[in-house]
Amino acid sequence: MKDINSVTVIGAGLMGSGIVQVAAQANCKVTMVDTSDAALGNGEKLISTSLKRVARKKFDGDEQQQKAFIDKVLANITLSKSAEQAVSEADLVVEAIVENIDVKRTLFTNLDKVAPEHSIFCSNTSSLPISDIAAATSAARQEKFAGLHFFNPVPAMKLVEIVRTNAVSDDVFQSLQDFTTKVGKTPVSCKDTPGFIVNRLLVPYMFEAFRVLDRKEASIKDIDTAMKLGAGMPMGPFELADFVGLDTMKFIVDGWAKEGKIEPALVQPSKSLDDLVSEGHLGRKSGKGFYDYKK
Ligand code: 3HC
Repeated sequence: MKDINSVTVIGAGLMGSGIVQVAAQANCKVTMVDTSDAALGNGEKLISTSLKRVARKKFDGDEQQQKAFIDKVLANITLSKSAEQAVSEADLVVEAIVENIDVKRTLFTNLDKVAPEHSIFCSNTSSLPISDIAAATSAARQEKFAGLHFFNPVPAMKLVEIVRTNAVSDDVFQSLQDFTTKVGKTPVSCKDTPGFIVNRLLVPYMFEAFRVLDRKEASIKDIDTAMKLGAGMPMGPFELADFVGLDTMKFIVDGWAKEGKIEPALVQPSKSLDDLVSEGHLGRKSGKGFYDYKK
């Protein structure tokens, strides 16, 4: 199997731009794709802010080395508004677009026709079954179609889940493990099950925290403090929910409830969360969630 050196990332949002950044830092040639100049510009901005942070830490006090590092990483990144053109030489295609199965399936059906035969296709979905997305491609591609699930903030979080469907070949799985290690992350593998490993455990825990609040058993602040100081979490469940996005949290659990593959008690909705989402309070990105960030 060919080494992964050329990567195309579809989606320039928080996750997509983070994946572009870590691949470019690992010296891969990366094309970042989105549908508008504004979306690509936003992705570039996220990368340059994060790169400055990484450079400052790597070359503390040496501005020249910091600049050389940033320039070298940025030189590995190309922007494109055409996914079809951008995959023409890709060893790996990673999709990080909206969590909509039809949109993802249409994208991959189109890319399957134009990408090189050896290209590995991956989705960074956190909530949709990989095999349902992969089924939109040819049988040959399904052997090269896996989940590659990064965590937010991508440049800082050290884990990648490689989600292996029954169709994925050993060679492809090995290539993805090698790529994950090359970009400085630790891979774990799991079957194509709801939430994979991290979200399967993390999301029900967070929802129970929301329901503790619904039942007025403890305050947001006290639950967060308890989990940080009593369980060693870097963020409490409400801080983390605001960080991930309340709409995302709701989308994941509503999807699981509909699928019916998870114990119903674990996917009980939370009134506090539902109310905030319906009022447009989605967490940090909208300025308010469980906490108010405008103050
Ligand atoms: N770019 C580059 N580096 C970053 C960064 C960024 N955007 N954000 C943080 N970092 C680095 C910092 O430079 C620092 O590095 P160091 O330890 O080597 O010095 C390290 O990360 C810690 O950052 P800070 O000291 O500035 O801040 P904190 O100690 O408060 O850490 C945090 C910030 C890493 C976000 C930490 O609070 C954390 O780990 N929170 C939990 C995040 C989490 O659980 N993410 C997973 C969410 S679930 C998910 O993504 C799945 C999805 O499918 C829903």
